[in-house]
Amino acid sequence: MKRSHYCNDVREKQIGDRVTLFGWVNRRRDHGGVIFVDLRDRSGIVQVVFSPERNVEVHKQAHVLRNEFVVEVSGTVSPRPKETENPKMDTGMIEVEVDDFTILNESQTLPFLLDDEDLGENTRLNYRFLDLRRPAMQHNLSFRHRVNHTIRNVLDGEGFLDIETPMLTRSTPEGARDYLVPSRVNPGQFYALPQSPQLFKQLLMIAGYDRYFQITRCFRDEDLRADRQPEFTQIDLEMAFVDESDVMGITESIIKSSFTKALGVEVKTPIATITYEQAMEKYGLDAPDIRNPLVLTDITQQMKDTSFKVFASQATVKGPGGVQGAVKVLRVPGGNKLTRKQIDDYTKFVEIYGAKGLAWIKINGPWQEGSWQSPIVKFFSDEEKDAIIAATGAETGDILFFGADKLSVVNEALGRLRVAVGNDMGLVDQDAFGFVWVTEFPLLMWDSEAKRFDAVHHPFTAPMEEDLHYMDGEEVDGVRPLHKIRSRAYDLVLNGTEIGGGSIRIHDPNMQRKMLSLLNIGTEEANDKFGFLIKALEFGAPPHGGLALGMDRLIAIMLKAESIRDVIAFPKTQKAGCVLTQAPASVDHTQLRDLYLRSTYKAKS
Ligand code: AMO
Ligand code: AMP
Repeated sequence: MKRSHYCNDVREKQIGDRVTLFGWVNRRRDHGGVIFVDLRDRSGIVQVVFSPERNVEVHKQAHVLRNEFVVEVSGTVSPRPKETENPKMDTGMIEVEVDDFTILNESQTLPFLLDDEDLGENTRLNYRFLDLRRPAMQHNLSFRHRVNHTIRNVLDGEGFLDIETPMLTRSTPEGARDYLVPSRVNPGQFYALPQSPQLFKQLLMIAGYDRYFQITRCFRDEDLRADRQPEFTQIDLEMAFVDESDVMGITESIIKSSFTKALGVEVKTPIATITYEQAMEKYGLDAPDIRNPLVLTDITQQMKDTSFKVFASQATVKGPGGVQGAVKVLRVPGGNKLTRKQIDDYTKFVEIYGAKGLAWIKINGPWQEGSWQSPIVKFFSDEEKDAIIAATGAETGDILFFGADKLSVVNEALGRLRVAVGNDMGLVDQDAFGFVWVTEFPLLMWDSEAKRFDAVHHPFTAPMEEDLHYMDGEEVDGVRPLHKIRSRAYDLVLNGTEIGGGSIRIHDPNMQRKMLSLLNIGTEEANDKFGFLIKALEFGAPPHGGLALGMDRLIAIMLKAESIRDVIAFPKTQKAGCVLTQAPASVDHTQLRDLYLRSTYKAKS
């Protein structure tokens, strides 16, 4: 077998040449005497023609061709007759007149048409081998290959070494549950699949490899969403003797090259940076879509004496770990056109995020003329109305949405509302790419339910030097103000999605021990789980830092795909299953016995 061209490579300059093509019958049309076949391979489609004038026998045999038959075709490239040219197709000016062909395999009638745009996801995943034949999917996966290749080239050029790290390992804490693998030869013991190569890449820095990268699979047993898979791919890197700007600079080179080479889009660098505090203040979320022009304003102080108690009471809310009350406003220019129904829908929407209501004011003119339409305006004094205008810059035509609750709830609710309203009102340029770095994340976050601090990034992230004094700061309700310590962590955000995150690491073993103790991880547990890292830190650990980009998310956003499942060849469903292979599945009793396991699961009857 010898292919001379891929289908989409047959063009006018091959006219008169003899070509041999392999592919699938995308469509067959019988035009009274002449049979046309759109022949498809991964490059695209070319029209091949079986005519009795050219070869009676070949034409006769072509009658058996059906959709998705696999064929080898040899013939001569000819210009299409004038009126049958199709300028919309890459190969639309030519066709191949077939002299000879072989059916390499037949196909049953497909369960769906490949160009059906409205297929259910279950059908698509069940027949993924057919779904992947669709040009859109073939484009997505070759695009992903192109980006992968570009990134490898950039990192190789910058002196990074591609080093593989284990898949059967111990828990690497990134905040999710582990996937566990029982060990047959070590009865009762388990490996964890890596949530990331975090600890190994730090060990590689201590070992002197200086610049490491790996494009590798990570495993996290967490609730799935459109942008989350139980196994996903990271572009993972680590560098020694660096600070934040070095890691961010390399990441920007990766992004810039990928966008130029794969998409032809120029990304302006350096990418803008905002602090976590600024992001929360203005956008309510730590992964803001900066293409959206709407912003939040804090008016807690202006509302502290208002007769609307829901608002006034928030000014005094204070608890341990930085818990505080707040009143914030989302100003929406042009929003006074929203209907009652739309406002009710937004009220229901914010309730998903814990808000207890969504107060609003339609600014239909100056308040002095009684032109503010609102269920709460009657509670406000003239000074308070002026203060609202002064703080938000509200103008006639706007709607103001208010949230009053714990600051974390207000930020989440109004932050999500900002995204929804911005998109619904067409305020976001969907063709643009909005990059922003978010820096100075808090090192630790108070968990009000568990009544303890958790690491915001992971426990190996370095604190900012100037905030270390909070470790010994004055307690509020018996809790140290550890939430005030900022970390040397940074996230890269694209169009409101976190596509990457990293940090400068702790390289001092004493600081690492202290950090684990702040997280309530006792010495014994610390030694058991991370003893190898702490030990390694004692043997000449260089200052180091790194980052990981989520490959699936990056590609999905570049391609404007709705879900990361559209850029993964064999993704899992929302229930972490593989429809195609029916994984996960129950296993043989003997297999469990060999692993010293017994299932206690009882199906509900
Ligand atoms: P982090 O946990 O932020 O950092 O992960 C890095 C990036 O990986 C992507 N990502 C995911 N993509 C798809 N499905 C998931 N379930 C999923 N979880 C994460 C995100 C995220 O930004 N070891 C650190 C990196 C470091 O500090 O160098 C880490 O794993 O795009
Ligand atoms: P009520 O006094 O409960 O009738 O509420 C008056 C208005 O304030 C309604 O529009 C509610 O949606 C809104 N509202 C109630 N509680 C809150 C809150 N915590 N934050 C923002 N708006 C609220």
